[in-house]
Amino acid sequence: CYLDELNFLEVETPVLIKSTPEGARDFVVPSRMNPGEFYALPQSPQTLKQLLMVSGFDRYFQIVKCFRDEDLRADRQPEFTQIDCEMSFVEQEDVLNIFEGMIKHLFKKIRGIEFNEPFLRMTWADAMKYYGSDKPDMRFGMKFVEMKDLTEGHNFVVFDSAEYVGGICAEGCATYTRKQLDELTEFVKRPQIGAKGLVYVRFDENGTPKSSVDKFYSADDLKKWGERFGAKPGDLLLILAGPAMKTRKALCELRLEMGSRLGLRDKDTFAPLWVIDFPLFEWDEETQRFYAMHHPFTSPKAEDIPLLDSDTGAVRANAYDMVINGVELGGGSIRIHDSELQDHMFRLLGFTEEQALDQFGFLINAFKYGAPPHGGLAFGLDRLVSMFAGLDSIRDCIAFPKNNSGRDVMLNAPSVLAESQLEELCIKVNPKN
Ligand code: AMO
Repeated sequence: CYLDELNFLEVETPVLIKSTPEGARDFVVPSRMNPGEFYALPQSPQTLKQLLMVSGFDRYFQIVKCFRDEDLRADRQPEFTQIDCEMSFVEQEDVLNIFEGMIKHLFKKIRGIEFNEPFLRMTWADAMKYYGSDKPDMRFGMKFVEMKDLTEGHNFVVFDSAEYVGGICAEGCATYTRKQLDELTEFVKRPQIGAKGLVYVRFDENGTPKSSVDKFYSADDLKKWGERFGAKPGDLLLILAGPAMKTRKALCELRLEMGSRLGLRDKDTFAPLWVIDFPLFEWDEETQRFYAMHHPFTSPKAEDIPLLDSDTGAVRANAYDMVINGVELGGGSIRIHDSELQDHMFRLLGFTEEQALDQFGFLINAFKYGAPPHGGLAFGLDRLVSMFAGLDSIRDCIAFPKNNSGRDVMLNAPSVLAESQLEELCIKVNPKN
């Protein structure tokens, strides 16, 4: 009803379509009437809603099932539901305002919570630098502090040889025992986190430091570290060192762990955040090429367009995510509406002209008739519901969810097809073993 009042028109889009590039694999459906050919189930109605904008619909929304063949986690299912929205003649600010309003409206209606202040905004670069994540949990502080410059020249090889040295300050945790610190060290050394070790500094009630690197650093050195962290007597510094990106990610896990241990991640406290200015591209080491971080229709920031060829990785996008309590609830972007820029984008993503036309001809050709500036976003409905209900997994608010292997164990799906069905579809199955 919030969207109705703002003149959003509900439009249902088809489920049997052609592949949409949202970064996951498609689920595909064979066509009996077109032997050897397949439909794809939409990963999202992205291209369709853009076509609606080109054809003159001003504001669209839809509550829509989306399908993605990707690895599953607590907040991911192979089929899930989006509140999908798109608007024409808008800029990023318009989209953020309208949908911030929608989330505020939902909080008020569902949880009786009023947010009177605008939601916090943070650039992607700051989110990574200070929280090691593009979806930081803002219910608590423990912002990262970098300290490579303070640690150099003391013959402590671990720090001297590291690209990055940084840490967090856990308030009132100087009383942590040896055992608790060992547990934290084991935590960061888990293979999925991958830190080599953990350095700590305790400040006792007089502010006197005691650390695991006392051999290399004097009390005065450690006090300087404490000053940079804004540490008070009774606080504990937890410090990691290593390659910058990897260490920030490990520090992010440590920060979340400390947040949980200290009871700072209360399910009834909500800390909404817009993460903005995402990079347009993401470099993939394995295939040695750029991928669109969001999708190929996301527009670059106007001031970064000159960098498209010269410094591709540095180009920022008009893309944004809404994050609440460390969960990405929604995301979207302002789209490219200029066919030349769209061609340029496809080239940078490694598409030949033929490949781009084959996959997205319907959209590229529509743009030639003139497309309005447009943009939008989609919220994950399952994630929204699970947040409002205080659940740990979206599986708990979905009737008949799939398990982590993508199976419905009740229906026993997926399952093999009868030979006659396969024949009709002109499909020959070649089982792996
Ligand atoms: P995106 O891929 O960011 O954007 O998805 C939007 C939102 O959908 C939810 N979501 C999921 N929920 C459960 N299980 C999944 N497997 C899953 N994947 C995504 C998340 C996410 O924020 N077309 C664009 C939107 C746009 O640009 O307008 C899109 O789909 O909450």
